[in-house]
Amino acid sequence: MHDDPDSAPSFNDKRSLRAEMMARRTALAQPDRLAYDRRLAAIFCAQKFFREAGTMLVYLAFRGEAATDSIIETALLAGKRVAAPQARRTGNIMQAFPLHSLLEVTMGEWGMREPRAAAEGPMAPEAFDLIVVPGLAFTLRGDRLGYGGGYYDRYLSLIRPDALSVGIGYEFQVLRRLPTEPFDRRVDRLVTPAGVIACADN
Ligand SMILES: Nc1ncnc2c1ncn2[C@@H]1O[C@H](COP(=O)(O)OP(=O)(O)OP(=O)(O)O)[C@@H](O)[C@H]1O
Ligand SMILES: [Mg+2]
Repeated sequence: MHDDPDSAPSFNDKRSLRAEMMARRTALAQPDRLAYDRRLAAIFCAQKFFREAGTMLVYLAFRGEAATDSIIETALLAGKRVAAPQARRTGNIMQAFPLHSLLEVTMGEWGMREPRAAAEGPMAPEAFDLIVVPGLAFTLRGDRLGYGGGYYDRYLSLIRPDALSVGIGYEFQVLRRLPTEPFDRRVDRLVTPAGVIACADN
């Protein structure tokens, strides 16, 4: 049954869904976005996993991704070690560099803000207790759809087994199901402006 929507997903399923989810995120009205971002950050920073994290990797939002600036500021003020990703087109590799202030970011290859590369090189993926993961869409069980580079799928396969990966996004980004492939990595938790979802429970 080639037309069965529940049959094995193809690459094209992901591609059309990316365009649709990107359009929906871009269509978000600015006052709503600001209110959602504020609520999401407040919920995120109230979690035990945030309070207990000593070292965390947090993306710097671009293209309408849920904002992380105030999460980063709260973490830095709390004395946590914070890093942000640098994405390299060559090999679709992501590396983590320390971020001491939101003022020290530079513009990266994809037009996203990035930390400056440290002379001592990137931090090891095993350094992180908590990894904040962006996405175009998620499911309750932690499936995730990114931009298609496989950057996070690769990176999440390198983190410590006891590290926690937390996807963040808006409520409309949580879908009933997503096309997935064997290399797709799930997130452990999902935080939206409506609350926290423990993905392993679903
Ligand atoms: N661990 C891995 N090692 C090598 N290649 C991988 C790995 N994980 C994913 N890939 C490759 O990355 C490509 C893109 O994967 P996918 O379409 O799931 O991207 P995505 O999850 O949307 O992107 P991103 O992780 O950058 O947000 C796939 O073609 C896949 O072969
Ligand atoms: Mg993937």
